[in-house]
Amino acid sequence: MRDSVFDGFIDKLRLESDIVNVISEYVPLKKRGKNFWGCCPFHHEKTASFSVTPDRGFFYCFGCQVGGNVFNFLMKIENIDFPDAVKLLADKLGVPLPEKEISAHDRELERETANLYRANELARDFFHSCLINTRYGKVARDYLAARGISDKVIDEFRLGFSPPAWDKLSLALTSRGFAPQVLVKAGLAAERNGGGVYDRFRGRIMFPIQNAQGRVAGFGGRVLDDSQPKYLNTPETPVFNKRRLLYGYDLANQYIRQSGKVVVVEGYMDLIALKSSGINNVVASLGTAFTNEQARKLVRARASDIYFAYDSDAAGQEATVRALTTVKAIGLNVRVVAIPDGKDPDEFVRKHGEKDFYTLIDNAPGLLEYQVSRAIETTDYTGLEGKVAVVAKAVPALAEADNAVEVDNYIRKLSELLAIDEGAIRSEIRKYIAQTKKDKNVNNGKTISISSLSNRPEQSTVAAERQIIRLMLEDNSIIPYVETELSRDDIQGRERKIIINSIVDAYNMGKSLVPDAFALTLSELAASELSKIMVMDLEFGDIARIVDDLIRTIRLAHLKILLDEHSLRAHELERMGDSSFLQELAESQRIQNEISKLRLL
Ligand code: UTP
Ligand code: MN
Repeated sequence: MRDSVFDGFIDKLRLESDIVNVISEYVPLKKRGKNFWGCCPFHHEKTASFSVTPDRGFFYCFGCQVGGNVFNFLMKIENIDFPDAVKLLADKLGVPLPEKEISAHDRELERETANLYRANELARDFFHSCLINTRYGKVARDYLAARGISDKVIDEFRLGFSPPAWDKLSLALTSRGFAPQVLVKAGLAAERNGGGVYDRFRGRIMFPIQNAQGRVAGFGGRVLDDSQPKYLNTPETPVFNKRRLLYGYDLANQYIRQSGKVVVVEGYMDLIALKSSGINNVVASLGTAFTNEQARKLVRARASDIYFAYDSDAAGQEATVRALTTVKAIGLNVRVVAIPDGKDPDEFVRKHGEKDFYTLIDNAPGLLEYQVSRAIETTDYTGLEGKVAVVAKAVPALAEADNAVEVDNYIRKLSELLAIDEGAIRSEIRKYIAQTKKDKNVNNGKTISISSLSNRPEQSTVAAERQIIRLMLEDNSIIPYVETELSRDDIQGRERKIIINSIVDAYNMGKSLVPDAFALTLSELAASELSKIMVMDLEFGDIARIVDDLIRTIRLAHLKILLDEHSLRAHELERMGDSSFLQELAESQRIQNEISKLRLL
């Protein structure tokens, strides 16, 4: 796949893409200094140590040391290989791929996907028409009317009704040329034991579920009575992935973008009720646990505040707690809309109107307040045991919160409410923090051995090595100078040695040294190190002078190591009565002289 056409194409993509834009689709970023910062999507963290540099096209996480260019980012976050990252970026930018990159296999897949969407869309129209036009659709029309759903809403959401029969949809679609196998693949039909297929959805109110592009990916179907299951959904298909889809996202997208806020509800009916009362920035998570992928979708719509308005029953609240953790890790602000008296948002707005719902939203507590209140509300704390239990439930939230003032405030409140000492609560929090730190270290297996410590170059040497690499890439004209002045052995960092060697080689062969393109030629570790180097905030004054200083620092560090080695060896040989110790001593002397000379410069 890598040839000159392809390389040229990659260069074009790199030039046309804005790394900050691409990454913002996944990670909320804020500008600080020259770079943009956010919470790293590749490890859990509370403080933003993930940095993106727009002018150089790199990202780097100071927490987990992952870094690279826009392609590396897409490969990692989408878990795809390089060619797919190229395709994805081209797709995002609306740049057509060079003709030969589309394989026969891709074409086949594309055809299949298009077919599934077409089948779903015809099914949607079929269900919709059954609801509004047919005799047997009357029960469904009555049901929706009784729930206060107007014709306008039915039309807007293209609600439908699946006929209470075995093969009405299958017949309609096969007569339009769809193979029964396609209906099965789309999840619209299932195979009959004796051969043939039958309709999956029968006698249900149909909710078409559209993806971000407005294509119909699948359906939810509700019974009209109390039978089970209440909702039947499309099974996993090549186009229906429950973890990735959010009901109503295509309609809400622009409103989320405008306001930066989004309300997340659990059910189809909740979403429809809120939408009908004029609340537009709402999506539904479809009863599943709110997933990472769904959260990232909201980030892509530039949401910064998420309001969870789940059912107030125990299951809904459990789901809320899980969702909060997921969303917080991504760096979004979370609020919890508490729906009073055992209701869901649908029942609430119908009864109290949208004004009261807005009041709930305005008063929605943040994560910490919600978790502390929950600890209090779900525990009987009249006895000592209860008090201990409340503290135990509140401690993780307190330990993980970022706002110290807020934390203080809750410690005081809890201490008053439970009549226990503030100090006791603080000590529990400290214990929790110490314990989780320990767990983390054990999990990572990150015990640093003494030998690896002693092999580690000093911070100042590392910094000098990094700066010189950065300078070589900022100003290619110094490369030959560095090449002659600095022996490759002088560089102590393994990755940095590789980077410098590759820079010199590329330069000598006249290859591109545009940093993010160059990064593609490196191993993953070296590319990460290079990213770190490229995001460092550096001011350069007199380049020639700085280069000399850096070369000297690096050489001195290396010479000191050599000196230690040779004098140690000299001492050992002397102790063993080996006369070759004299040569070692002479070598030590020579190094010492060189060090003195460098110091005089
Ligand atoms: P609810 O039981 O709260 O349903 O499930 P609801 O949306 O309030 O519906 P009504 O008001 O009773 O008509 C919340 C969501 O969980 C999913 C559906 O997406 C539903 O909207 N769910 C629920 C299922 O997928 N299957 C089920 O059997 C039940
Ligand atoms: Mn409901």
